Amino acid sequence: LLDNQHLSFEHPAHGGNLRWAAEQFNIPYNEWLDLSTGLNPNGWPVPQLSPECWSILPQEGDGLEDVAHRYYGTNYVLPVAGSQAAISKLPTLRKASRVGIITPGYAEHARAWQGAGHEVVALDANDLDKHLPELDVLVIINPNNPTGEIFNNEQLQNWWTQLRARGGWLVIDEAFIDSTPELSMLQHVGEEGLIVLRSLGKFFGLAGVRVGFVFAWQTLLNRLKNEMDPWSVNGPAREVARKALADRDWQRETSDNLKGKSEHLAEILKGHGLQPSGGTSLFQYCVTSAAEKVFHALAEQGILVRYFSSPKALRFGLPGFADGAPEQSWQRLDRALKKINL
Ligand SMILES: Cc1ncc(COP(=O)(O)O)c(C=O)c1O
Repeated sequence: LLDNQHLSFEHPAHGGNLRWAAEQFNIPYNEWLDLSTGLNPNGWPVPQLSPECWSILPQEGDGLEDVAHRYYGTNYVLPVAGSQAAISKLPTLRKASRVGIITPGYAEHARAWQGAGHEVVALDANDLDKHLPELDVLVIINPNNPTGEIFNNEQLQNWWTQLRARGGWLVIDEAFIDSTPELSMLQHVGEEGLIVLRSLGKFFGLAGVRVGFVFAWQTLLNRLKNEMDPWSVNGPAREVARKALADRDWQRETSDNLKGKSEHLAEILKGHGLQPSGGTSLFQYCVTSAAEKVFHALAEQGILVRYFSSPKALRFGLPGFADGAPEQSWQRLDRALKKINL
């Protein structure tokens, strides 16, 4: 049974593929507990939007750049249609380069650099320093998704200095950093060689609205902007982003909340012999040779988690209100794990 299912369960390239799971495991879509993403399941509550945002063309100067400046603390900003839009375009702005990319990590980075004809070297987090002299570009994710590894500012500045000296780039994907802003490199942005990406999809739980931000020196931002279609961040998206980034009360409350939930998740996993090797406020990551077995056993009970094959590991996200009262979801996960003989 496991072997048969193994053929197909590798296919979701991203978490959140509930329709696939519903079909695969013959459990109705709305009965699943979805822990397969690293998105905040109780994201910023989107209010009624202004009538104009739907009817007029999106305008720079509508306040989004100003609010972004206040939230992120730097002016060197370009709003994009999800950080994914920048991930896809950045590789087209360099001549053929040797690009080191952290692995395991969000797979779209490697796909984009490879697709644009660069030589991609997949690097373990522990090997980055050793390989830096051979690289033109280093792409890291801080904190890393899915492993939760973090890189300190001193280390990052050191890599950036080395790369910049030979016209190289340090690209830091900070999609999961909002709960730990002290790790961010944004305060250094503006000079050549440092590119930082941020997303509204994770902490704010607004993955559907497709808004992200690129931070870099002005020339690079101008080049990137030229590559983008006009109005690529649509009017409603700009308005939602503007309001979410300005809502400090929600941000404070959410940051505390998520940390507590993620710690609770780690406790449940530990209680069943799944010791997380890392995590963030939005997910826990467990390397285990039983990853396939646990994936299937949970899926058969209507709980979807994210499986990684190399190394064999599982990523557990947080349950949302929509999955039942939070307490019910925790109990459901606890009961389901108890049934698995680990
Ligand atoms: C580490 C990381 N960066 C970037 C993205 C892209 O996010 P978005 O395009 O929604 O900003 C993802 C999506 O899962 C991610 O995991």
